[in-house]
Amino acid sequence: MIVIGITGSIACYKSCYIVNQLVKDKFDVTVAMTDSAMKFISPIIFRSLTGNPVIHNIFGEGQSLYAVPHIDVSEKAEVIAIVPATANIIGKIASGICDDILTCLVISAKCPILIAPAMHENMYLNKAVQGNIQKLKDRNLDIIAPVKGHLVSGHRGIGHLASEETILNEIKKHT
Ligand SMILES: Cc1cc2nc3c(=O)[nH]c(=O)nc-3n(C[C@H](O)[C@H](O)[C@H](O)COP(=O)(O)O)c2cc1C
Repeated sequence: MIVIGITGSIACYKSCYIVNQLVKDKFDVTVAMTDSAMKFISPIIFRSLTGNPVIHNIFGEGQSLYAVPHIDVSEKAEVIAIVPATANIIGKIASGICDDILTCLVISAKCPILIAPAMHENMYLNKAVQGNIQKLKDRNLDIIAPVKGHLVSGHRGIGHLASEETILNEIKKHT
């Protein structure tokens, strides 16, 4: 199973294409969303694309097929890719915080974990964010580096999500 984690970035609409492409390529895909991600995009789209329940709440009654979703799903995952990854989720993972479904999944996973950051240049270049990205690299998580491109502010800069093709290729390397 490929797990796609989605966080609260404006770039999360691009996850639809990535998830759809993986499903077309016959991969079994499960999506995990943070609360912020669900303010940007509805889980219904991912449930429909994947045919699998979307996991988004560690305590949610009857929300999925799983008794303990973060453990059950992390045990089945051959790769977890967080696309897009906010500054917030990067910081939480770097610190070992486990206060939502995605951070619990990551900390219990034994499979490769890919992180595709997407944020405004000012956030991306902040020393705290750069330090947290380095911590993830030191723990052998794979960072799919963002590129220079159009940012939500209307300016061009570094922090634009890597291309869908790059991300798909990186995910497929682990399947
Ligand atoms: C319109 C809008 C766009 C945002 N885009 C980003 C983004 O691209 N990257 C980012 O790191 N945070 C972005 N944020 C801030 C995050 O949504 C916020 O830090 C949130 O707490 C992230 O939660 P999560 O990491 O649990 O998904 C954005 C917020 C808003 C209102």
